[in-house]
Amino acid sequence: MSEKATLTYDGKSYEYPVIVGTENERAIDIAQLRAQTGMITLDDGYSNTGSCVSNITFIDGEQGILRYRGYPIEQLAEHSTFIETAYLIIFGELPTEKQLAEFRNLLVEHMFIHEAMRHHFEGFPASAPPMAILSAMINTMGCFDPLLTQPEDPARFLEASARLISRVRTIAAAAYKKSVGDPIIYPRFDLSYTANFLHMLFCKPNRICRPDPAVERAMDQIFILHADHEQNCSTSTVRMVGSSQANLYASVAAGVCALWGPLHGGANVAVIEMLENIHQSGETIPNFMTKIKDKKAHARLMGFGHRVYKNYDPRAKFIKQSCDAVLSKLGIKDPLLDIALQLEEIAVKDPYFVERKLYPNVDFYSGIIMRAVGIPMNMFTVLFAIGRLPGWIANWREVHLSPQARIYRPRQVYNGPTVRQYVPIGARA
Ligand code: ACO
Repeated sequence: MSEKATLTYDGKSYEYPVIVGTENERAIDIAQLRAQTGMITLDDGYSNTGSCVSNITFIDGEQGILRYRGYPIEQLAEHSTFIETAYLIIFGELPTEKQLAEFRNLLVEHMFIHEAMRHHFEGFPASAPPMAILSAMINTMGCFDPLLTQPEDPARFLEASARLISRVRTIAAAAYKKSVGDPIIYPRFDLSYTANFLHMLFCKPNRICRPDPAVERAMDQIFILHADHEQNCSTSTVRMVGSSQANLYASVAAGVCALWGPLHGGANVAVIEMLENIHQSGETIPNFMTKIKDKKAHARLMGFGHRVYKNYDPRAKFIKQSCDAVLSKLGIKDPLLDIALQLEEIAVKDPYFVERKLYPNVDFYSGIIMRAVGIPMNMFTVLFAIGRLPGWIANWREVHLSPQARIYRPRQVYNGPTVRQYVPIGARA
């Protein structure tokens, strides 16, 4: 028999079905709550609200588990590639050799942006943040692919996904080149997805560069580790926008904007800024930590804490190992890594952090790898966006294909002035 939850209010009882997920997660389905009681639930920040039922990603924040379509993140980071993982996330199964080859061919075929789009880059000031350019250009891309903005059949959806995934790195690299005043570099058909991105980022017409395979692999793993993370702020934004039946490109462009903020994808930049400040000011780590714990200082240890993980973020564990490996392969000794290690060592034993279950998240070490590779800081969040794209596409598709799909439209508890009469401007105090 299916479980029920009972709500008692004002002398009346109401029963609501309990939904049980495949990993035994439980939720009270309150779809009939307002119709039956006239009330809504209030959950500022949505910590207790399930916005959808999804088949894509499973997280157990207490145990530090993350799986895409059932596959543990550690196995994918170890054995898969970003492109194979992207296929898995979007289509639900690991691809066969034939499917992967077809997907790769589409990526190669669509790696160039329309030549007319190159002129759009000229309209941005040199100081334009690459995240702003990325969001604007993804939306612009939809104008050039009108048939693909609402990809109804599977072949069109495959093509739209491949175009977005392939071109987002071309746009990202071009945004960077524009910001430093260098000529835009075209992608090459003979390089892997990630090597191609590094090529477009670092090569110049007078400088051929082939990325170190260790660097290429570390960057590919960073993309894999960021590829989806269930209903985070940017993915929920993509679903929210997509629920109005807005097109795939517009929905993803909105996701880029949500990711931009320092409490979300922008945290990888905030971590490096924090570590640089400590390094340059010569402040001691214990002093810095005292400031963080002082509520009046309104400071946070960036790269620590997570809405869902109340344990080590499994991605952070992997990225920390990868950070050690890349720095030693490149022969780099970064003082910021030493500061990060000291901060972590103190924080994981400090009652303030222990009681609040604050552990390093994915952003704590990823910036140090990107710095070592030579990625400029204003591109860190852009790289996160490239990695997260498969998750956004898969979630948009889930909303789009769901037979129960309705526009996302939360309610509120109004707490403003009650009714009052309009006062002509001359009569106002
Ligand atoms: N440093 C110090 N204290 C913190 C931190 C932190 N990084 N994070 C949370 N806390 C404290 C809060 O002050 C609060 O303390 P209180 O109970 O005494 O008031 C308590 O821990 C709970 O914090 P909330 O803000 O309620 O936690 P929430 O789930 O809303 O926030 C978030 C999660 C935004 C990630 C937060 O931990 C944070 O700001 N971290 C730093 C920014 C960061 O690294 N963001 C990246 C997240 S991962 C990602 O988006 C890819």
